[in-house]
Amino acid sequence: MKKYVKVLAVIFAFALVACVFAACGEKADGDNVIVFGTNAEFPPFESVASDGVIKSADGTQSFDGIDMVIANKIAEKMGKTAVVNNIEFDSLLVALQNGQIDACIAGMTITEERKESVDFSIPYYTATQVMIVKEGSDIKSAKDMAGKKIAVVQGYTGETVVKDLGYEYEAFKKGTECVMELVNGKCDVVVIDSATAENYVADNQGLTIVEDSSAFEAEEYGIAVAKGNTELLNQINEAIGDMLDDGTISATVVKYVDEAE
Ligand code: ARG
Repeated sequence: MKKYVKVLAVIFAFALVACVFAACGEKADGDNVIVFGTNAEFPPFESVASDGVIKSADGTQSFDGIDMVIANKIAEKMGKTAVVNNIEFDSLLVALQNGQIDACIAGMTITEERKESVDFSIPYYTATQVMIVKEGSDIKSAKDMAGKKIAVVQGYTGETVVKDLGYEYEAFKKGTECVMELVNGKCDVVVIDSATAENYVADNQGLTIVEDSSAFEAEEYGIAVAKGNTELLNQINEAIGDMLDDGTISATVVKYVDEAE
């Protein structure tokens, strides 16, 4: 009888240890975590913040913005925790392809070229390129950029658009660098996405925005996943659909755009 109890106790102990290990294993391999890649240089969609709504995987950095709120809500709907991997914009699609991130949310315009390497969700925001100039500039439309010094961010759709218009330009790593060039009189115009432009104009005296809908087409932002990851894509699409229907996305946009003004 005693022996029987001992054997039972040993079996029970092993089972307990096995359960604990299984539970740990689940967390360690990230079953409950979804890793969003972004490039946190794009307010009001994403920027590094001291007290943001979402953290890096190691918990040392935090991020805020419209995309970060959306990423959190998607994770929540999936019963997961969202973490952010902040990497260079140009590296995001490769990071998806090699599994370094699960999804990319970065104010990223859905383009035919990008669709060749990744799959995009349904659109969640419509933007357009605009020109940031100094107040009093003689640039009133896109064609006035002829012969001017143009700054764009490397790899952004703004670069493609300026290239397609046939103008020479200088490409910088960050939007803030372009804006500093403009403020310091080293360039005449910055071409970048509308909401981000508004943000820079609000933060820097003496700048203004010039729109030209005949030169700049509407662009739609989507969340990207690795090609063929339909399971995740379907979950993301469902979450975006819900948030478009119930007004979560428009309310978030209003919140972050108003904060910037
Ligand atoms: N919408 C532009 C593009 O897709 C710019 C996006 C920049 N986003 C960022 N998180 N830095 O190229």
